[in-house]
Amino acid sequence: MTADDFQRYLDAKRSVDDRSLDRRLWRQLGTALSTAADDEGPFRLLEVGAGVGTMVERAVEWDLLPEGQDVVYTAVDVQTENTDAIPDRLADWADGRSVETTERAGGVDLVWPERTVAVEPVTTDATGFVAGTDRSWDLLVGMAVLDVIGLDELPTLLSGLAPGGHWYFPITFDGGTRFTPDHPADDAVEREYHGHMDTKEGGDSRAGQHALARLRETDEATVSGVAGSDWVVYPDGSGYPGDEAYFLRYVLGTVEEALGEVDRGADLDDDSLDDWLRTRREQVASGELVYVTHQLDLLGRWAGSG
Ligand SMILES: C[S@@+](CC[C@H](N)C(=O)[O-])C[C@H]1O[C@@H](n2cnc3c(N)ncnc32)[C@H](O)[C@@H]1O
Repeated sequence: MTADDFQRYLDAKRSVDDRSLDRRLWRQLGTALSTAADDEGPFRLLEVGAGVGTMVERAVEWDLLPEGQDVVYTAVDVQTENTDAIPDRLADWADGRSVETTERAGGVDLVWPERTVAVEPVTTDATGFVAGTDRSWDLLVGMAVLDVIGLDELPTLLSGLAPGGHWYFPITFDGGTRFTPDHPADDAVEREYHGHMDTKEGGDSRAGQHALARLRETDEATVSGVAGSDWVVYPDGSGYPGDEAYFLRYVLGTVEEALGEVDRGADLDDDSLDDWLRTRREQVASGELVYVTHQLDLLGRWAGSG
């Protein structure tokens, strides 16, 4: 899989995430941000592992940001191909909407008459970025990222928040990867796939539950909401929505790559795995495969000293 594939995957993932994100928590966060609105300066949002910027679009489209207040949106990702894609992607997104985009050194401004959202893509490791600056933020967002970045990084990431700031970790993978129709190798594939995640540095196949436990144990953090946000990808009468067939093919490629890197148990030999992959790919092509993963959205506040 190439970097281009990954960006197409992140783009295809947007409609899947849109269906899955828990709206109750989203509204709860939006309400909290609107009551905390501060006329003194811009609202400061830090997104870690921001990918190609789909959350920027969603935050505007779904009215998350405090109304009428300028926003500085810092979008950090360790992959240059992702951060490089953000300005052009936002320009395309803005086309046909009532918003002007202005590219400038270091990012792109989304300009409405009543406010500007200044998007600042930064290519670096998120933890190092937070640790190496004296800036602070009003909102920290990390979507589909805690199972990758590693929970040991949470204290540093949270320390970037201003006192009273909010954190939001939606689509946090939490130990369920299911495909239907049933295949005899399903259980072994899921077990080996999750086992592979757990062996990777920072990886955690139960990141959702473990993150919740750590956040609850953190004196300066208050958990204000937890909800399931499972991905459910399924075909309707005309196939998969949007680019979700590609999303599924990418996921199957990820499973294949992961299982190629582990010493598999006797219950998943090469023939069984090959049959499983071939069957799943055929089911995507014929519009039969249903894919479900279990995830959590986590929301809360930070009382730390910033
Ligand atoms: C599963 S993707 C999610 C991307 C985006 N949040 C989304 O949901 O579309 C995880 C992202 O985290 C980024 N990432 C992984 N480790 C990182 C780190 N240490 N610092 C910053 N970004 C990181 C990856 O490059 C990738 O874009």
